[in-house]
Amino acid sequence: MTKHDLIIRIAGEGGEGIISAGDMITQACARAGLDVYTFKTFPAEIKGGYAMYQLRASSERLYNQGDSFDVLCAFNGEAYDLNHTRLQPGTVLVYDSPGGDFEPDIPEGVHAYPIPMTATAKDLKSPRAKNMVALGALSQLFDIPEASLREVIAAKFARKGDTVVQANLTAFAQGRALAAAQTKTDAYAVEHAKEKRDVVVMSGNHAIGLGALIAGLDFYSAYPITPATEIAQYVARHLPKRGGTLIQAEDEIASISQVVGASYAGKKAMTATSGPGLSLMSEMLGMAFMSETPCVVVDVQRGGPSTGLPTKHEQSDLFLAVHGSHGDAGRIVLAVESVQDCIGLTVQAFNLAEKYQVPVLLLSDGSLAFSTQTIPYPDPDSYQKVERKRWDGEGEYKRYAQTEDHISPMADPGTHGATHIATGLEHNELGMPNYTPANHEAMQAKRFGKLKDVVTDFPAAEIDGDGEAELGIIAWGSSIGVVREAVQRLRDEGRKVKGFYPKLLCPLPAGQFEAFGATCGRLLIPEVNYQGQLAHFVRAETSLRPESYTVCGGLPFTPGMIVRKVKEMLA
Ligand code: COA
Repeated sequence: MTKHDLIIRIAGEGGEGIISAGDMITQACARAGLDVYTFKTFPAEIKGGYAMYQLRASSERLYNQGDSFDVLCAFNGEAYDLNHTRLQPGTVLVYDSPGGDFEPDIPEGVHAYPIPMTATAKDLKSPRAKNMVALGALSQLFDIPEASLREVIAAKFARKGDTVVQANLTAFAQGRALAAAQTKTDAYAVEHAKEKRDVVVMSGNHAIGLGALIAGLDFYSAYPITPATEIAQYVARHLPKRGGTLIQAEDEIASISQVVGASYAGKKAMTATSGPGLSLMSEMLGMAFMSETPCVVVDVQRGGPSTGLPTKHEQSDLFLAVHGSHGDAGRIVLAVESVQDCIGLTVQAFNLAEKYQVPVLLLSDGSLAFSTQTIPYPDPDSYQKVERKRWDGEGEYKRYAQTEDHISPMADPGTHGATHIATGLEHNELGMPNYTPANHEAMQAKRFGKLKDVVTDFPAAEIDGDGEAELGIIAWGSSIGVVREAVQRLRDEGRKVKGFYPKLLCPLPAGQFEAFGATCGRLLIPEVNYQGQLAHFVRAETSLRPESYTVCGGLPFTPGMIVRKVKEMLA
C-alpha cells in the first residue's frame, strides 16, 4: 500500500540535529516533486529540551501538517515518552537502540525498527552524526530519494569543511545499511510524484522577507526576537545588494521609530517583531497613524502574555494588533494563512500602507514562521505594486489636505515648495499644531474615512463551499489550512459544512461576515488563544453569535480536532 501522504515525526533533544535531519528530508521530497508541509517545535534553550520536527509529504496539495504521524523517529527516551500514546497499531517506530537511553515496550501492532544511532555515530568517531544515521535509516525504510539526500547533506555541511561532509555521508550510508539489514514489515513509502514542478521550499519567515523585497522595500529596522528574527536575516542577505538599508536597532521602540522616519523620507519601510516587541511599538504606531506615515509592521505571534512561550505557536495578538495604542488610533491588520500568503500578503501590506498612508500590521505566527512548504517558484513581476500618492508641485502644499478620498498627496522632505511638519500633535491641513474641537473632529474623520474604503478595496474573504450549511467555520491565520482539510473531510462524510477565511481583520469586513453567517445554521470560530479574540470582534461588530473553540497549548490545531468538535456540535 502507498498512501497519498506520509507523515514523519522526528523527535529528540535540541542540539541533536533534529531540525537539520527534518529539513533534509523536506528538501529531498520537494526535489522529488512532492508537496511538503512541515511543523517544528523546539525549546527556548539553545541546547537541551524537547525538539520535534513533523514532515508531511504528498503528491496531493497540502494545507497543514496533518493529524498525527505515521512514522515516529525517536532519538531518546523523552521523545518516546512524549509520543508513545500516539503509536497506534499500524504506525512505525524507528528508535535509537541498542546503545540509546531507553528500551521501549513496543505497543501491539506497531512496526518497530531499532537502529543504533548513537552507537554507530560514536563508532564512526562522529558523535554529531547520530542524526545522519537516523536519516539514512529513514531514507532506506521509506524510499526517500538517496541521491537527493546525499546532495542536500553535502550542501548543508559544505561550510563546515570536507571532513564534516564526508563523515556525515558515511554515517548516512551506515544508517541505510543498518535499515536494509532489517525486514521491513510496514508498507509506508513516500509517494512518487506524477510530474516534477517548478517549486521552491520556503519558510514563512523567509517568504515574508521575499514579499517585502518584491514590494520594493528600501529600509528595514528591527530588534531580534524569536520567532521573527529570520525575517531580518533573510532581508539582511538581500536588501543591501540592491542599495537598501537594514539596521539592527537597540530595541523595538528605536526600530519602529526609524521605520517611520525612513517612510517620512519617502522610502518603503518595514519592521518585524513578536508580541513583546509589538507592545513596545504601540506609541509609535499611533504616531504613524496621526502623521499618516505608511509603514509595515510584521508581528510573528508567539505564546504570551509577557515573555510567555517564546518558541511556541499562538494566535493571541489580535487584540493588541487592532487596538494597541492610546487615543483613537486606526490601522490595517492582515493575517497570513500559508507560506505562499506570506509573499502575497506582504506585498499587499505595502500596497495598502502606501495607498492609505497608514501603518499596516501583518500577523504571522510561530507555526508558520518555521514551517517550510512547497510553493510555486515566485515570479516578482506577477505582483502589482502600489506607490504613494505624491505631490505634483502645483499650488500651495498642504500635507494634510482634505480630499474626496481622504488621502493627501505626500512630498518627500526637501522637495522645493513642500516644507511641512509631520507631527504627532493634532494639526491642520498644513501640518501646523491645531487643537480646536472642529479641527480634531475633521482630522479624525479624515484619517478614519480612508480606512472605510479598505474593506471594498481588499479582495473579499474566501468562502469554502456553496449554498446553505448546518455549520460554518470561520478561521484566520494559519488555522485556515487546518480548517480547509477539516471542512473537506466533513463534506466527504456528507456533512453540510462551509468555511470562511478572512485575511483582512481590521477594518473587519463585517458585511462579508454577515453574508456568510446568513447561510449557516451555526457558526464556529476555532482560534489558538484563550479569549477567542476574533470571535470577540465578530460579536462586537456584527449581529452574529459564533461559538468559540479555543486552545492555547503552544501547538496549532489539527484537522482531526476540528472534525471532532464539529461532530460534537452537530450531534
Ligand atoms: N554534523 C555537524 N553539525 C551538525 C550536524 C551534523 N550531523 N547536525 C546538526 N548540526 C549542526 C547544525 O548545522 C546547526 O549548526 P548551525 O547553527 O551552525 O547551522 C546545529 O548543529 C544545530 O542543529 P539543528 O539541526 O539546526 O537544530 P537542533 O534540532 O539540534 O535544535 C535548536 C537546536 C534549533 C532547538 C536550538 O539551537 C535553538 O535555536 N533553540 C531556540 C532558541 C530560541 O529561539 N530561544 C528563544 C529565546 S527568547
